[in-house]
Amino acid sequence: MGEGILSLEPVVGAALGDPGALLRDAGLERAGDALRIGGIAIDAIAADVGTPSYLYHAGAIRQRFQALGDAFAGRRIKIHYAVKANANLAILRLFRDMGAGADIVSGGELARARAAGFPNSDIVFSGVGKTTVELAEAIEAGIGSINIESAEELDVIERLVEGRSVTAPVRLGLRVNPGVGAETHPYIATGVSGIKFGIPVELVTALGQRISVNPRLRLVTLAVHLGSQLLDPEPIAQGAAVLADLVQALRGRGIRTIEALDVGGGLGIRYRDETPLDPVALATALAPHADRSGLALHLEPGRYLVGSAGVLVTKVLYRKSSGGKRFVVVDAGMNDLVRPSHYQAYHAIVETRRSPRGTIVADVVGPVCETGDFLALDRLVPDVQPGENLAILGAGAYGFVMASNYNTRPRPAEVLVDRGRYALIRPRETVAQLMAGEVVEPFARETPS
Ligand code: LLP
Repeated sequence: MGEGILSLEPVVGAALGDPGALLRDAGLERAGDALRIGGIAIDAIAADVGTPSYLYHAGAIRQRFQALGDAFAGRRIKIHYAVKANANLAILRLFRDMGAGADIVSGGELARARAAGFPNSDIVFSGVGKTTVELAEAIEAGIGSINIESAEELDVIERLVEGRSVTAPVRLGLRVNPGVGAETHPYIATGVSGIKFGIPVELVTALGQRISVNPRLRLVTLAVHLGSQLLDPEPIAQGAAVLADLVQALRGRGIRTIEALDVGGGLGIRYRDETPLDPVALATALAPHADRSGLALHLEPGRYLVGSAGVLVTKVLYRKSSGGKRFVVVDAGMNDLVRPSHYQAYHAIVETRRSPRGTIVADVVGPVCETGDFLALDRLVPDVQPGENLAILGAGAYGFVMASNYNTRPRPAEVLVDRGRYALIRPRETVAQLMAGEVVEPFARETPS
């Protein structure tokens, strides 16, 4: 996949020399032989709630939110947490309580954000394929901004607001495709031209004018999102520069309603030995563009805030050897954490209890019936035995939310650890739940014709 893959490390390869930085990012520490999260032994939580389970560390999440805010101290900014990264209501409530807003991409996420208590005005709605029903719900709720991605979407919104009172105009953003490339996995690069996201720069002023002549609509932001897991702030700054130019062009046409530049999310984290994107460097890179426009900045990070703060704990089921290779078969599969098999993403794997047995090179694989069901390939891993647990790091973002029920596997439990306590924030699904609503004999009552 060429250079685009650079910042998502391949699954293949040796273990980390020193996982210390990763453990710190996650709020994990070793006490004696036990690996602890927020002061509690991971094995103790696993014994209580079972495996596989996602464990999140509230303190690590708060620390990230604080660090990001501090980096932009003295500037007008608003952080809208990207709900898609981890949508559990308890996680959302944590963000609401810290004063974050919510960045959503579906009617389902709108319902979650509202259930978690975000004020409607703190919600922004991105996405290339919003349905008429979703747009109507967002308009009804009076959310902070609906970020439009095409002229056709604006057509739908115009129809929906016809006849509405003009006193509370619907607040809109224009999601711009700035034509800026960013080094990341090609599946998650979203700012280059020739992909489905955003409005080409040359169409933005015309759409801005269409919005400005409609008294029921108000253009309040211009938005970009360059991609995810970015380690360099430069592309995001280039995106902001494009937005600042467009603000000037729109002002030149008398449009002065814009309140903020929304520069999206995408801040990259450490999965292995990367140098994560430094929020202070991001703030510095964005400053001239914010200053030039005189507007507030909106950020939409997901991964940066929650990615490092979660682990997936999984139990070793078997050790086997085949074709000259060693396998560690664990009870978490690609349905529980799809990132390794879908993006060839590297997730560090550490033992939850230190053992004197040393390490082996093995593939760490799940129970799903596909050869592509792996968590690591040819990895130096602890010499674990059946019944022992492993912690897969960096699983707080795009972990549970991307889990599926493939092979009729109930999705994992989710646990929040905070201030020396832990709570189940989503019980493990049951097989009965998975079958609920299915109809065994749909035509049983029909009379034969
Ligand atoms: N804003 C918009 C418009 C987005 O599309 C995204 C992510 C974000 C914000 C948040 O990006 P973040 O700060 O989390 O990088 N499933 C993939 C990541 C997909 C990201 C999609 N858009 C993965 O597991 O790496």
